[in-house]
Amino acid sequence: MTDDVLVVHGGTPLQGQIRVRGAKNLVSKAMVAALLGDSPSRLYDVPRIRDVEVVRGLLELHGVRVTDGDEDGELVFDPANVESASTDEINVHAGSSRIPILFCGPLLHRLGHAFIPDLGGCHIGPRPIDFHMQALREFGAVVEKRPEGLHLTAPNGLHGTKFSLPYPSVGATEQVLLTAVMADGVTELRNAAVEPEIIDLICVLQKMGAIIKVHTDRVIEIQGVPKLGGYRHRPIPDRIEAASWAAAALATRGGVEVLGAQQADMMTFLNVFRSVGGAYEVTDARPPRLGSAGQEGGIRFWHPGGELKSVALETDVHPGFMTDWQQPLVVALTQAQGLSIVHETVYEQRLGYTEALNSMGANIQVYRDCLGGTPCRFGRRNFKHSAVIAGPSKLHAADLVIPDLRAGFSHLIAALAAEGTSRVYGVDLINRGYEDFEAKLASLGAHVERP
Ligand code: EPZ
Repeated sequence: MTDDVLVVHGGTPLQGQIRVRGAKNLVSKAMVAALLGDSPSRLYDVPRIRDVEVVRGLLELHGVRVTDGDEDGELVFDPANVESASTDEINVHAGSSRIPILFCGPLLHRLGHAFIPDLGGCHIGPRPIDFHMQALREFGAVVEKRPEGLHLTAPNGLHGTKFSLPYPSVGATEQVLLTAVMADGVTELRNAAVEPEIIDLICVLQKMGAIIKVHTDRVIEIQGVPKLGGYRHRPIPDRIEAASWAAAALATRGGVEVLGAQQADMMTFLNVFRSVGGAYEVTDARPPRLGSAGQEGGIRFWHPGGELKSVALETDVHPGFMTDWQQPLVVALTQAQGLSIVHETVYEQRLGYTEALNSMGANIQVYRDCLGGTPCRFGRRNFKHSAVIAGPSKLHAADLVIPDLRAGFSHLIAALAAEGTSRVYGVDLINRGYEDFEAKLASLGAHVERP
């Protein structure tokens, strides 16, 4: 077994204040967008997480000079010398992240060809890339599958197109945006994803000179332009990390103030948090004025005492309840009175982590049926994608192995909420998406140590 292990002495409520920086799922895409500019871009509030390192490495391989800016968390990208990288060099990053797939459009625009290694990312289902490839072909790309990865060319250039996604995929919407902004003509994307991270990517592209209209009913229209400049952008804060700490506060019967968390992007989460019996208070940011210091905004989440209440929830695309909020919250639901239902409709295999919670004393059953909500695309396909959580259950310590990023954080919360000493193996995976999580845990009073 790996020596990458965290020893967690559970049973202490988390108390205190932490800060979240730019959203992982925007920052990594904004970094790719920098490839499209003809002048440097500056991104602020970039968290120190593994996914950022992977994208930085890939950009550098393609000739983008990446340097630290003056502010803590500021990165500067200079795309003046974009160049081809060798397949071997790129393949070093194979299996480490999903982001390389988004290099397709920008590299086709800048170099006329692209090579994409085998993708990684969390193992939460088959995670196909068929929508991405279909969209790129619509633009005129020629995609060749080779044993070492995908080779793409655009012998006749990239041209605007009308395309409808079979499902509002976040990544495929980003693929279309990053390709259409410099394609020849107008692109109309139907059934697009409209997550706040996508709207923020649109803001980045607009700052670069793109013309993008977001219509009602998930329709996005992009008018291609021949060139784009650099951008300066402060990303939206990480609403997944914010919700993870909120769930940790609830599950450990503590209170955590998440500086940087924004109410508007978390409305659906906040409604569920309150329905479960959690309490929160939003502090709006206040800019400094003459004679008075400014105030950083955030949300304080806490367990107000008494019993938590069971809920029925369904994960969905925005504005629904995010699939990435599900795993941390389920740990808190093990402490709620009665039967809670979670219907996972975004990924077909995102409930495997519940076995580990059961090994700690939770009572969670998973089902192939679409429970508690409308039928989804997984109901007829034999995937265990609904969970019934019976509570409250007293959690006890266990040895846990982290399977993926969000499930990993939920294991960590469960260990913190449980009585006794747990060993959590593979915790390094959490660094993919949670900046300084060990330091944050320590500042919240958690008793954790590396053996
Ligand atoms: C993004 O993944 C996020 N990752 C995920 O966060 C997040 O869970 C997901 O969006 C949904 O919000 C990043 O932004 C890096 P999708 P993405 O394409 O873009 C199916 C985390 O922990 N699909 O919206 O890969 C797919 O299988 C990660 O931060 C196809 O069938 O997700 C899934 O069922 C985990 N064919 C659904 O669409 C395709 O070509 C939604 O996936 C593409 C997707």
